Amino acid sequence: MESRQRINDKWFFSSTYETDLEKETELETFEAIQLPHNTVNLPYQYFDEKSYQKETCYFRKVTIDPMVRNFIRFEGVMAVAEVYLNGEHVATHKGGYTPFEVELPNTQTEHLLAVVVDGSERDDVPPFGAAIDYLTYSGIYRDVFLVERHGVFIEEPFFKIKNKAENTYTAELVFNVQEAGTLQVLLTGEDLAIEGTIDATVGANTFVFPEMTVNEWSPENPHLYELVILEEEDLLYQQKVGFRRAEFTKDGFYLNGENYSIIGLNRHQDYPYVGYAMPEEWQVEDVRVLKHELGLNMVRTSHYPQSLAFIAACDELGLLVFEEIPGWQHIGEGEWHDVLLQNVREMVVRDRNNPSVVLWGVRVNESDDHHELYTKTNALCRELDPTRQTGGVRYLERSEFLEDVYTMNDFSYDGGDTERLKREIEVATYDNVQVERKGLRTVEQVVGEKVPYLVTEYAGHMYPTKRFDQEERLIEHAMRHAVVVNAAYENPNISGAVGWCAFDYHTHENFGSGDRICYHGVMDNFRVSKFAASVYASQQDPKQNPIMVPLTNWTRGDRNMAQSVPIYVFTNCDEIEVRYNGKSRGFYQREEGGKFSHLPYPPIVLKEFNFLWGEPFGPLDVIGYLNGEVVVTKEYTNEPVLHDLVVETSHETLIKSDRWAAAKITMKIVDQKGNLLPFLMGSVRLENEGGEVLGGNDVPVIGGSAVCWVRTLPETDQIKLVATYGEFKKEVTIQVEG
Ligand code: GAL
Repeated sequence: MESRQRINDKWFFSSTYETDLEKETELETFEAIQLPHNTVNLPYQYFDEKSYQKETCYFRKVTIDPMVRNFIRFEGVMAVAEVYLNGEHVATHKGGYTPFEVELPNTQTEHLLAVVVDGSERDDVPPFGAAIDYLTYSGIYRDVFLVERHGVFIEEPFFKIKNKAENTYTAELVFNVQEAGTLQVLLTGEDLAIEGTIDATVGANTFVFPEMTVNEWSPENPHLYELVILEEEDLLYQQKVGFRRAEFTKDGFYLNGENYSIIGLNRHQDYPYVGYAMPEEWQVEDVRVLKHELGLNMVRTSHYPQSLAFIAACDELGLLVFEEIPGWQHIGEGEWHDVLLQNVREMVVRDRNNPSVVLWGVRVNESDDHHELYTKTNALCRELDPTRQTGGVRYLERSEFLEDVYTMNDFSYDGGDTERLKREIEVATYDNVQVERKGLRTVEQVVGEKVPYLVTEYAGHMYPTKRFDQEERLIEHAMRHAVVVNAAYENPNISGAVGWCAFDYHTHENFGSGDRICYHGVMDNFRVSKFAASVYASQQDPKQNPIMVPLTNWTRGDRNMAQSVPIYVFTNCDEIEVRYNGKSRGFYQREEGGKFSHLPYPPIVLKEFNFLWGEPFGPLDVIGYLNGEVVVTKEYTNEPVLHDLVVETSHETLIKSDRWAAAKITMKIVDQKGNLLPFLMGSVRLENEGGEVLGGNDVPVIGGSAVCWVRTLPETDQIKLVATYGEFKKEVTIQVEG
C-alpha cells in the first residue's frame, strides 16, 4: 500500500543559517511559511542575484504511524538539501530539479525535520561551476509529501509500450517490489478495459499486456488511458498513460506514422518576484499558454527537468516535450559528473510514463564534446528507457554524435547584423557561420551528412526585444522568428524548430539587458504577448482558434520617417478587409510564393495607406474572414486617449488547501477601442484586504498593462482588491475556499 499526503503547510523558515541551527526545537521563533517557497524574493529588475546564494533552513514537525514505513518526498529543492531528522544528518541531495526521498525511522511518532538549503552556485553541482544565462533561485520550491508505505508497494514503475502495427500495441509494466503479493493491473479508457493479475515476487516483475488496438495520443488528440495497480482494495499506483509512435528520422519527425512538423519554444520556469516558487496551477497554466495561446506543438524544458504537474499537463493538453538534464555550457569535474548522471536517472525514472515526452536531452546544453561523460549519459538513459530517442543540445557543427537526434541551436540568422557590424568593428560570434543567411543551416552543413535533426534554439540573444520597445523593433523581432520558422518548414530533413524562447526570464549580470532580464521571449515574464507571439499563434488551425494580429500600434509618427506601413498581419484567416476612416479599402489575401510561403499561414501584408507628414490621420479597422464569415476584428483609433482601467482576475475563487494559491490580476490601461497604451508610465496602486500582492502594492505599468499575482495566506478567506490609476478605480473580490 502507498498513500501520499502533501505537507506544504506548517513549515518554519530561517533566512540565515549558522552551525547547529538544524538542532533547534523552538520553531515558533522562525517565520511560519507555506510551500512552494523562495528563500529571497527579488524585485522585478536591477537586483543583486547573489542575495539568495546562501544557506537557509526549513523546519517541520512530522507525525507518523510507526506501524508503516514513512518517507518524505521532495519534488524539488534548490540547490543542495542537507536533510536532518531530530538533529541528526540523514541525507544530502544535490541538484534542484529532480525529486528525492528520505525515510523516517519508525522508532518514534514525532519527528523534527530540518532541511538546510544551500542556494549558492557550488561548483560540485550542475548547472554551476561557470556562467549560466538564467537564475536558479533557491528554496523548497516544489511540493513535499509524507508517503506511507507498507506491505507491497511499487517502485520505479515503467509502462513500456511497443508498437506492432498502426494503432496496435503491446505493453509491459515493469516494476520492483520489496514484498511478494498478488496484484491486480487495470488499464482502462473509453475504448479499452484490460484487467489482469500478477503474483509479484521480491525484486523485478513484469506484467505483460495483450495486444491492444488503441486511440493514439498526439497534440491534436491527447488521448489518455488510466493505468492502476491494486492489491485487493488498496491502490498501489495510478498513472495516466498514452500510446504514440514518435520517431525522429533523416526525413523529419514522424508521429503515429505521419510526417509531422514541430513548431515550439523553450520555456524557463521562472516568474516575477518569486522565481521558481509558483504553485502547480501556474506550471499548468504555462502549458495552456504554450499550447492554446501560442499554438505550439512542442516545448523544450530548457535547461532542466520541470515540474511533474507541467509534464502531466503536456500529456493532458497535448504538447510534445523535449526534456533535458540541468546544465549550461560548462562541464564540471569529479562529483559533478556523478550528480549529472544521477539527474539523468531521476529525470527518466520520473517521466518515462508520460506520453508527451518524446525526446530526452542527455548533454549539458551547448557544452563541448566529452566522450566519456556523454557515452555514460546516453547509455544510462537508454537502459532506463529504451523506447525513446536521445538528443543533446549543441551549438557545435560536427560534434561527436553519440545521441539518436542531432539537436542543434542554430543562431545563424542574424538579420544582416554581422555584415553591418563588420563594417564598423571586428565581430566574433560563437556561431561563426559563413553561409548565406537563409534562416537555418542545412543538416549537411552542420553534421556533414543527413541525420535525424531538430533545431532547438534560434532568435533569442540575436535580437532581444522588450514588450515596451518601439514598434519597429517589435516588428523586426517577429519577422526574425518568422524567417526561421519558415526555413524549418521548408527543409524536409529538419524535424522542426524550437525557438528561444517563450517567456522573458531573469538572469545574471553578465547576460541580458543589465536589469537582470533576458528579453528573449515572444511573451514577457508576465506572459503578455509581444508581436512575435502572433507568428506562432497564427500557425494553428483557424477552426480551433482564429487569430489575426496586425503588427502596428497605428500611430502617425512612431516609425522611422513617419511611415505607418507596411503592416504585417499574422493571421490564419482566409482574407482580411481593411477599413480606413470608416470606408472599406478592400480585401487582402496572402501573396503567392512570398517570402514566408512555407509557413502554414504566411502573413498578409498591407502596403497601402501611406500619408504625408502632417496629413489628417484616421481610424483603422482590420477584419478577419474565414469561409466568408467575420471571425476577428481589430479596431484602432487615430486619437488614443487614456480611456479606462480594465481589471481582470484569472480566478474568482481560489482553493487554498495546505499550500498557497494565487490569482493573476491583469490591469490594462486602454484607449477608446480597448487597445493598450504602449508608452504609458507609472504604476497601478493595488490595495488589498486579505492575501498578499506578490511584488508589492505598486504594480508597474509595462507596455500599457500592470500584471501581478495575489496569493492566499493560511488565514485568508477572501481577497478584496482596489486598483487605482489616476482617476480610475476598480474593485475585484476573490473568494478563498478550502
Ligand atoms: C543560447 C543558450 C540559452 C540562451 C540563449 C539566448 O546559447 O542555450 O540558454 O542563453 O542562448 O539566446
